[in-house]
Amino acid sequence: MERSEYRFVDHTGAPAPAHRPAEPVVIPREAIEAEVERLAGRPRPDNGRRVSAIVNPASGPGEALAPGIAVSLSVLLPGERTRPVRHNSSQVNFCIRGRGTAVVAGRRIDYEQYDAWNTPPWAVYEHVNDSDELHARLTYSNSALLEKMNVHVVEESPAAAAGPGPAEDTDESAASPFGTFRLGGSDAHLMPYEKLINPDVVEVAPLHWPWKRVKAELDKLAALGPSYAGRRLYLLFHPATGRTNGTTQNFFATITIRPPDIADRAHRHTAAAINYFFAGSGDSIVEGKRYEWKAGDLMLTAPGWAVHRHASHGEAVYELTIQDSPLNIAMGSLLWQEDLKRPPEALGLTGGFATNRADAAARGRP
Ligand SMILES: [Fe+2]
Repeated sequence: MERSEYRFVDHTGAPAPAHRPAEPVVIPREAIEAEVERLAGRPRPDNGRRVSAIVNPASGPGEALAPGIAVSLSVLLPGERTRPVRHNSSQVNFCIRGRGTAVVAGRRIDYEQYDAWNTPPWAVYEHVNDSDELHARLTYSNSALLEKMNVHVVEESPAAAAGPGPAEDTDESAASPFGTFRLGGSDAHLMPYEKLINPDVVEVAPLHWPWKRVKAELDKLAALGPSYAGRRLYLLFHPATGRTNGTTQNFFATITIRPPDIADRAHRHTAAAINYFFAGSGDSIVEGKRYEWKAGDLMLTAPGWAVHRHASHGEAVYELTIQDSPLNIAMGSLLWQEDLKRPPEALGLTGGFATNRADAAARGRP
C-alpha cells in the first residue's frame, strides 16, 4: 500500500555530506533608512506596530536573516504607542534612532540610541514614543527557529500582564513518593511525571544596557594595546542564562570596539553572527570573499561554520553582534575554531580558549 506521510531515505554506506556555509548578506544603511521612512509614511496600523522583517530567503522556513535569528525593523512616530502583545519567542532590542520607552512585564525601560534591552519569552510588552522625533529599533528574535518548528505562539492584546505567581507551598503528599532516582548503580536516572511537568523556575527579567554606561566600560578596552590577540568586547550578559553566556536563552549580544586598522584572526563557529556597525568602517573576509561595510550597515557576517575575519579601517568601529551561541551551548553543538591550524573545541562541553590578555595588560603598563 502506498503511504505519502513518510518515506525511508536510505543512507546505507553513504559518506556524511560536506558542510557548505551560507552566503553573507549586507543590508546597507541607505536601505535601512529608506525602509524606516517608508514605514513612517504608512497610515498608523491598529496594533500600532510599524514593522518590517528583514528576510534572507536562503535562511529557510520562517522569516529570518540567519536560519535561527529573525531581525526586524520597527518604527514609532512621536506620540505613538503599540498595543500590548506577547509570544513564546524572546528578543534582544537595539535602539538605532531616537528614543522611546518599553514597558515589559510591568517594568518601564526608558532607552536612547544604542541602548539594548531584552524581552523575555511570554512577557507582555508595548513600546511608547513620547519624544518629538521618530524612533527606530532593531529586534533580534528566535521566532524564526520557532516558526521552523511550527510552534511560534503569539497572543495579541493579552489580558493584563500575569507575572510569575507567588511560590507555591510544596505539598509533599502531592509529590511522587519516589523522587528522581538512580537506575541501578549508574548515573542514568528516572524522573517522575510530577517533576517533569514542574521543572525548576528561572525567572528571566527584562534588563537594560544603556549605551552611555556600556561605552564607558568598552572604551577602557582600547587600552589593551595592539599586542592583545582577543576581541575587545563585552557580552551584555543576562545572569538567568547561566553557563550558556547569553543575553537571551538563544542569543548573546556583544558590543565591540575595534581600534583603527585592526584585523581579527580568521576563525569559525557553528553559531551564526549578525553585526550592526554603528561607527567607523571596515571589511570582512568570509569564506575567502571580501565584503565592505560602514556605520549603519547590518550584516550577516558569519553564517554558521563559515571561516571569517573582520577588520577596521582608519577609525574606531563600534558594533553590536548577535550570535545564537547560547542555544548552541545548551545543545552541546557550539564548535568553535579559534585557530584554523588547531582542532575546534565544543565550547562548554570539551573546553574553550584563552587569550593573551594577562601578557598584553602587563606590556601595556607604563
Ligand atoms: Fe566570529
